[in-house]
Amino acid sequence: MVKDLSVNLCGLQLQNPVIPASGTFGFGLELAGSMDLNVLGAISLKGTTREARYGNPVPRIAEAPHGMLNSVGLQNPGIDVLVNEKVPALRKIYRQGVIANISGFSVEEYRECCAKADACEGIDLLEVNVSCPNVHGGGLAFGTSAKAAAEVTAAVKAVCKKPVFIKLSPNVTDIVEIARACEDAGADGLTLVNTFLGMRIDIVRRQPILANKMGGFSGAAIFPIALRMVYQVAHACKIPIMGCGGVASARDVIEMMMAGATAVQVGAENLRNPFACPEIIAELPAVMEQLHIDALKDIIGTV
Ligand code: SIN
Repeated sequence: MVKDLSVNLCGLQLQNPVIPASGTFGFGLELAGSMDLNVLGAISLKGTTREARYGNPVPRIAEAPHGMLNSVGLQNPGIDVLVNEKVPALRKIYRQGVIANISGFSVEEYRECCAKADACEGIDLLEVNVSCPNVHGGGLAFGTSAKAAAEVTAAVKAVCKKPVFIKLSPNVTDIVEIARACEDAGADGLTLVNTFLGMRIDIVRRQPILANKMGGFSGAAIFPIALRMVYQVAHACKIPIMGCGGVASARDVIEMMMAGATAVQVGAENLRNPFACPEIIAELPAVMEQLHIDALKDIIGTV
C-alpha cells in the first residue's frame, strides 16, 4: 500500500514532515548541486537578523560524544538579502515549503524583519527564534521569560499574515509556561527545541574550546530531552509543533510525531551527513510498513 507522508502545518500542505533545521542547511541553494531539494517537506532557512552579521570569533564548533556544540552567533547576510536575493534564487529551483527563521536584538527588530519576511512572496511560514544561546542581549534573552516571549509574539503577529511559529529554548525551568505564553499571545505554532547551553574545555591548553566559551549543544544526545519537551507542550497547548532536537532517523521522526509534533526538523545530523534528510524521507515508508502506519498524520500526538 502506498504510504501517505503528508502533513498540514497551519494550512501549509507538506508532502512529508521532514525539514532541515535552521542553521544546518544554509539557504538551501548551497545543497542544491548535491541533492534534489524538492524531496524535502520544507526548509527552515539560516537565521536572519536586520543587519548582516559576521558571527562570533572562531573556533565556534566543538565536538562532543553523540553531539556537537556551536557558537556561530547568527552569521547571516541580513533580512534584505534574504528577501531580495536568497529566497527568489531558491524559488527558481524549489517548490516545497520555505520557512524564514528570524532573530533579533529588540522587539522592534523582530517586528521589522518579520514584516519584510511576511511580505516576501517565496516565504510560506515564519519561525521566530527567541532561543539563540550564542549572542548577548538577543535571542535567548527573549525565550527564557514568558513575558518577553509573549511580547515578541504579539509584536510579530501584529504585522504578519503568514503563520508564525516561535522557536523555543530548552534552557528554561518550565518550557510549558513559555509555550502557553506564546500561544496566548497569538502564535500559530511552536518549534521545539533549540540547542542546550553547553561547554567543552581543552585540557591541554586549559582553555574553553569555543572562543565564545559556551555554545549550543545539539545532536543525538539531546533527543530524549527534546522529545519530552515536545510531549509536555503538546499536552498543554493546542497549536501545532515542529519537533526538533537530535532527530537522526525515520524512527526518530515517528517518535517525535507520536509525542505531538506535526512536522519534524533535522539539525545536527545534516552536518554529520548532508544527505540525512533525503535518506530519512526515503526510509519512512518501510518503517511505516513495519509499524502498520498508513498515514503519518494519524500518529500525531497519539501517545
Ligand atoms: C547561532 O547562529 O549561533 C545558532 C543559532 C541558534 O542557536 O539559534
